[in-house]
Amino acid sequence: KQGYQNAPESFLHVGRHKTVGLVFLNPSLRTRVSSQRAANNLGMYSIVINMSGDSWGLEFDDNVVMNGTNAEHIKEAAAALGSYCDILAVRSFSDFKNYNDDKSQRVLNAFIQYSGVPVVNLESPLAHPLQALTDIMTIEETIKISRKPKIVLSWAPHCRALPQAVANSFSSFALGYDMDLTITHPPGFELDPEFTGGAKITHDQKKAFEDADVVYAKNWASIKDYGRVGGLKEYSDWTICADKMKLTNSAKFMHCLPVRRNLVVTDEVIESESSVVIQQAANRVWVAQAIFKEILEGECNARKN
Ligand code: CP
Repeated sequence: KQGYQNAPESFLHVGRHKTVGLVFLNPSLRTRVSSQRAANNLGMYSIVINMSGDSWGLEFDDNVVMNGTNAEHIKEAAAALGSYCDILAVRSFSDFKNYNDDKSQRVLNAFIQYSGVPVVNLESPLAHPLQALTDIMTIEETIKISRKPKIVLSWAPHCRALPQAVANSFSSFALGYDMDLTITHPPGFELDPEFTGGAKITHDQKKAFEDADVVYAKNWASIKDYGRVGGLKEYSDWTICADKMKLTNSAKFMHCLPVRRNLVVTDEVIESESSVVIQQAANRVWVAQAIFKEILEGECNARKN
């Protein structure tokens, strides 16, 4: 970020004559625009491909007679996109029918298998790595204390089933960066221990908030009762409010956005001075830029060798 801000022109050669294809099977605001801005900063072209409405329906199964609604097989679609682009970046969410199907990350893995170019995950059923790297960056530039900060990832209510991706990636990156992580959620909303192993886990949200330096709010659907919505009525006491934030060590409030106000978090908290949600959103550019740069320079070095 600082390197770019000090000398933006020195990055423009990195992506010259290169193209990133941003493939969206689901909606996005921050990921789409921050990735395009990151590409601009590197002198790259970016093409947004909205697969949900603007493209042919994709078939993923092998050995099928394609006489249904899907007009194109992923094998041709991914290979064609790979022939136009130097990097592909793909967003494909869970569909909440079957956890093991979602866990297989079929769409992302098909692009990796068939496109022939590097693929960046813009949020899959299990992971949102660019968001998590941004979150770590935001914590590091916001919390200036000599001891390890206490980070709390708190489940919060929602009116729709949401993926575990953000919570999984935030947990595994926070633990990977050796942060003191506490996760709090109602019974039945356990995350996969593959991502949370090493975190403290409690159903007592208020206890978790005590002395926290960061409160990261996020809803995720139940894995046990797959796709179960944790909504306002049943779990209204899980909304992040000012009284709960008073239990913390003047914690920063974080959320990846978009956020449902007065369901996940009150207006008062998200608009308070402790809220760093816009700083988080802004930092998405620097992380996307760093990842694209790393890939382009890695490809360049691989060719030289
Ligand atoms: N945080 C995030 O990924 O935002 P979008 O869904 O708007 O891209």
